[in-house]
Amino acid sequence: MTEAISFFHLNTGAKIPSIGLGTFSVDPAIITAAIKVGYRHIDCAESYFNQAEIGSVLKKLFEDGVVKREDLWITSKLWCTDHDAEDVPKALERTLQDLQLDYIDLYLIHWPVRMKKGSVGVKPENVIQHDIPSTWRAMEALYDSGKARAIGVSNFSSKKLQDLLDISRVPPAVNQVELHPGWQQPKLHEFCESKGIHLSGFSPLGSQGFLNSDMLKNPIINMVAEKLGKTPAQVSLRWGLQKGHSVLPKTSNEARIKENFDVFNWSIPEELMAKLTEIKQARKAFKRHWVICS
Ligand code: A2P
Repeated sequence: MTEAISFFHLNTGAKIPSIGLGTFSVDPAIITAAIKVGYRHIDCAESYFNQAEIGSVLKKLFEDGVVKREDLWITSKLWCTDHDAEDVPKALERTLQDLQLDYIDLYLIHWPVRMKKGSVGVKPENVIQHDIPSTWRAMEALYDSGKARAIGVSNFSSKKLQDLLDISRVPPAVNQVELHPGWQQPKLHEFCESKGIHLSGFSPLGSQGFLNSDMLKNPIINMVAEKLGKTPAQVSLRWGLQKGHSVLPKTSNEARIKENFDVFNWSIPEELMAKLTEIKQARKAFKRHWVICS
């Protein structure tokens, strides 16, 4: 099954599998089904509160010989309360312990937002002035140690990326942001391409998991899907792959795990890709006023 999966090259020289399973509010047990279908990339975060369960699933998969650690790509993210330089390595240690791993393939600053140490909840009153250069230096030390084989960011605008590039010794390998045909972010795409930063798309079906996904109902997506004999979800994901983005769909449903992986041996022709640019643009997942990241 795995021969079907494609990869993108990162500026570290590593190859990131083009489809990853998002794990926010997903039942970790589905990872076993995903790996058996051919997924090799799992997108985690400490703030999803399920890394320990994911770690148990991974341990069993390794013990049972279903997959080898070196054939998997595991991403995790530094939460906003751990931006102080001294807290960055501690946060990664917790993540490695929970996931029962010695290293992570990619570690991201989850948001360009710093919150008071130990504060609980995503509330505006917890937000304090960030110091990305200091946090990034601690991320670079994790890269140097080999415990994070690549480092990057999430939810960074072009401006914030440029500020980061200006001070970084190790440039970010990845920026993970909301990306789907209904939120294409062409300027960010161009910027990242010109700087060799790989874009990874969360909510590639245009939902955050608890909203009805607009992409699946969108008439242009449905028209393209009908023409190609594919599902709207497959068209949304394939759009991302053809733009050069890795895509991180999430589902706890085994049939949809398979459906979302069947995106490699066909493509959307150019004229239909052009049609997809006509889709009305609106970000779906994060509209919180206190998070200014675009
Ligand atoms: P479910 O777990 O019931 O499959 P996104 O990754 O864009 O945030 O969207 C994830 C949401 O879309 C989840 O609620 C998931 O629900 C649903 N979903 C995932 N894959 C598909 C699919 N192929 N068709 C329809 N809905 C899907």
